[in-house]
Amino acid sequence: MSAELQNRVALITGAARGIGAAIAQHLSDAGAKIAIADLDGDGAKSTAKTLKTPAIGLSADASDETAMRSAADRVVAELGSLDILVNNAGIGGPDTNAAKASLEIPLTELSVDDWDAHLHTNLRTAFVSSRAAIPHLSRGSSIINIASIAALMPSVSMPAYGAAKAGVIHLTKTLASQLAGRGIRVNAICPGYLWTRAWEMIASQIKNNNPAYKEYTAREIFEDVIRNSVPLGTEQTPEDVGHMVVFLASDKGKNITGQALTIDGGATLGGRRVKSADNDQ
Ligand SMILES: NC(=O)c1ccc[n+]([C@@H]2O[C@H](COP(=O)([O-])OP(=O)(O)OC[C@H]3O[C@@H](n4cnc5c(N)ncnc54)[C@H](O)[C@@H]3O)[C@@H](O)[C@H]2O)c1
Repeated sequence: MSAELQNRVALITGAARGIGAAIAQHLSDAGAKIAIADLDGDGAKSTAKTLKTPAIGLSADASDETAMRSAADRVVAELGSLDILVNNAGIGGPDTNAAKASLEIPLTELSVDDWDAHLHTNLRTAFVSSRAAIPHLSRGSSIINIASIAALMPSVSMPAYGAAKAGVIHLTKTLASQLAGRGIRVNAICPGYLWTRAWEMIASQIKNNNPAYKEYTAREIFEDVIRNSVPLGTEQTPEDVGHMVVFLASDKGKNITGQALTIDGGATLGGRRVKSADNDQ
């Protein structure tokens, strides 16, 4: 086992499954003790049981200040310290009206409730969890926020989600600036297209609302999106994100702060993948 993060303790929100679970796995493989805070407390506990290092699973809403303060206190009491916070909890998917309609809606048709829900789940969570963790962090600690490529491009089907994730990047830069004097680094990761429960849900919504995809399975719709949107032609994986989190949390990232690092196979380069004799093989 790599000892890169030995004697470090990481708290990861929303890590019962998906990208968060892979982040927990990679941090544990690098030697860190792990705490998982998820709305799904049972899922958090079962994921914690699969890890090689000491790990606890907690039932907590990352947007709830009282719950996150007591989660952070418990992590320090049971695992000895708190050195790495990964703000991963969040929910993607087309905004409700977009899912009901054509997947492209004018902003005037986006409901205020949808707007609030996305900001609550994707931005308030990072703010509240950071507030709870920061008093426990010390020199060499790190906060890593999971944003999205939706923060970097106009997002016609997910305007509220895109705005919330853009807010996560802004929060990253502000916190990085405020905490640099204490030797604490703050960075964001912007993943592209990853086949998790979240994307399975998005693909089902596309299938139900777009007749062109009627005969496709959810996975086939996802593969079609990859073909059309990712220049490298490959899907991104939770493991890609796990590796980047370990790098940023370790000494290898000691001079990196306030950055938003993209893992998207080139999706944000713009333009569509052009068919050619080479890439059609
Ligand atoms: N899947 C993708 O393609 C993709 C792309 C870019 C960014 N992201 C981001 O990555 C993160 C993880 O996404 P995923 O695809 O693994 O999603 P997922 O739906 O598979 O898993 C999300 C987890 O977060 C938990 N959760 C949700 N709200 C919570 C809250 N308020 N408090 C605590 N836990 C909460 C859920 O219970 C679940 O375990 C999200 O922030 C998402 O926006 C995902």
